[in-house]
Amino acid sequence: MQTVQVVCRKATADDVENLFQLIQSYAEQGVMLPRSREALHRSIDTFYVAELEGKIVGCGSLTRLGEELVEIRSLGILESYKSLGIGSMLVDSLIKEAQEQKIAKIMALTYAVPFFERNGFQVVNKEIFPEKVWTDCVHCPKRHACDEIAVLKNI
Ligand SMILES: CC(C)(COP(=O)(O)OP(=O)(O)OC[C@H]1O[C@@H](n2cnc3c(N)ncnc32)[C@H](O)[C@@H]1OP(=O)(O)O)[C@@H](O)C(=O)NCCC(=O)NCCS
Repeated sequence: MQTVQVVCRKATADDVENLFQLIQSYAEQGVMLPRSREALHRSIDTFYVAELEGKIVGCGSLTRLGEELVEIRSLGILESYKSLGIGSMLVDSLIKEAQEQKIAKIMALTYAVPFFERNGFQVVNKEIFPEKVWTDCVHCPKRHACDEIAVLKNI
């Protein structure tokens, strides 16, 4: 794997426009839920960004689903920066954040199962999660035919 000087850090309000553009491009491809600029401003504290020489090349966020569980949402890497290990770095940062919050489990709903497996997650049955997991689904065009896979890691 190529070594790149990437920094993963908490997002700030200045990152909202870059986050919006990145998430929007994946939302248009149907692999991520869209987030408005307003929603990003409101939830900016939950986001991490990956920065390379001042450029935002990736992002991911953590949503608290209960005492024990957080969900990774909006994980995306700019197309031309994929496969450099940046997605895994962001997942590591999100796991560390969850550990600092003393949370035992981290999950995601995804199409990128091999990526999460490489990062220590296991495929699990969606039914094991509490109803809170599905609050975001009302905004999803695929809510009546969800084909995303649930992955989970104990941390
Ligand atoms: C999934 C994603 C975040 C991975 O980021 P990344 O920086 O490329 O990840 P890494 O470099 O750490 O790891 C790459 C490995 O993950 C796996 N992987 C990456 N994308 C994958 C996908 N869509 N499906 C399955 N496996 C995938 C592959 O094994 C890949 O290895 P390779 O490059 O040797 O083929 C990135 O591909 C992305 O932004 N995808 C579109 C949005 C998305 O699907 N997000 C996940 C929603 S929860």
